[in-house]
Amino acid sequence: MRPKGIMPPQNVSNNVQSTFNETNTDEKGYLAPTEFDESDDLEAAKRVENQLPSIDFRPADGEIIPVFATPFLRGHFNLPHDHIAVDCRRLVSKVKERAEHDLGRNYTTYFDEDVRTETHNLEWFKDFSDICKDTYISYIQNMLNIPVSHLSRNDIHLFAWVNVYTGEHHHETHNHTNCKMSGTYYVKAVEGSQPIKFTSPSIMALSGQQQVDRLVKRDGMNNIDFNGTNGTESEMNVYPNTGDFLLWPSYLQHAVPSIRNGIETGYERISISFNLWHKTDLDNNTTGRDMSYNFLQEDINHGK
Ligand SMILES: [Fe+2]
Repeated sequence: MRPKGIMPPQNVSNNVQSTFNETNTDEKGYLAPTEFDESDDLEAAKRVENQLPSIDFRPADGEIIPVFATPFLRGHFNLPHDHIAVDCRRLVSKVKERAEHDLGRNYTTYFDEDVRTETHNLEWFKDFSDICKDTYISYIQNMLNIPVSHLSRNDIHLFAWVNVYTGEHHHETHNHTNCKMSGTYYVKAVEGSQPIKFTSPSIMALSGQQQVDRLVKRDGMNNIDFNGTNGTESEMNVYPNTGDFLLWPSYLQHAVPSIRNGIETGYERISISFNLWHKTDLDNNTTGRDMSYNFLQEDINHGK
């Protein structure tokens, strides 16, 4: 019997309309077809199978090596989550007063500078800010080999905003600009809360490979599943719990999908998202003749 998955050479057919005789070969050594009794197709097919030249399945030995990984950090913030949740609800309720029916904006302080500034003055925000900045420094030093010893916390830019999803909200696929790392701290998230879905930065290459996506889980990775093949995943879903935080390179595309079971009474998913960047000095920036560009008018509204 031929091994499964091995196709015969092109000029040998195992169609039941033809059969082969070991004593009858063509000039290349392949078996040539001869007539057989069509009233006994199955027997004829078996004879064809037995008489085909033996073909070995011969993949080379080797190992699959995952390469070009995305450094993605998942951890836990030791903060008073319940207390912070109370403040988050209050802050977002202020936004709702101004944008009550705008589902794209009424769940987040992102667009409201006054409320974001108010957030900065809360006592727990100081701890949150310190943890975010120190985690960022640790990450860029260890994962990206970026020198950090010349920096202080005040050299780190942190832009943070509060989100309270209440069932009718979702967030389309996007990424973050003008920053190096982005993240989210989950102030309140339980089983059944909306996941955050990340898209592989290699998605265009993967689609060209025509890979067949399947649900993939990895050992030891709780609350995370993937779509794709093991090692070349196209999507990752993270199902957060209260206190979890995620930190990822800002170029990663991500989304918060609609909740599948509709709006539940009292459903809440509270998070604080943030962008991080740091002051950088430029080398070799004193060439040529210096000139200020302040005569050029600026019209930057950061997309708002
Ligand atoms: Fe985002």
